Amino acid sequence: MKIAIGCDHAGYDLKQELVAQLQEEGHTIVDCGTYSRDSVDYPDIAAAVTSIVLKEDILGILICGTGIGISIAANKVRGIRAALCDNCYTARMSREHNNANIIALGSRVIGPGLAVEVVKTFISTPFAAG
Ligand code: RB5
Repeated sequence: MKIAIGCDHAGYDLKQELVAQLQEEGHTIVDCGTYSRDSVDYPDIAAAVTSIVLKEDILGILICGTGIGISIAANKVRGIRAALCDNCYTARMSREHNNANIIALGSRVIGPGLAVEVVKTFISTPFAAG
């Protein structure tokens, strides 16, 4: 599966972890940055990821410290349904019931082990439709 990912400085370490795990599973990752812990503006990253999610009709992952700012920025874009999730139940429901096309994570809220499971749940759950 092709997946877009992006983070601000607060989410950099978690992004690196997720990219490694997802690539190991054979996914193709489009890394929209940021590429270091240097401070950046999360709306710029949200813009980059939302653009490719819409253009290529793929799922995306956005990470900031809480997941709040970057999900708010993403949800300003028409066609984006970004769900802020910190557990597998909401990750699954966001796909099944809401057809979310982006999952937002807070790197200061959940640890990498849980984040990997939450993302795996998100990307493997189809929209139930109906
Ligand atoms: C950055 O320090 C932090 O404010 C940002 O990552 C995010 O949590 C905002 O919602």
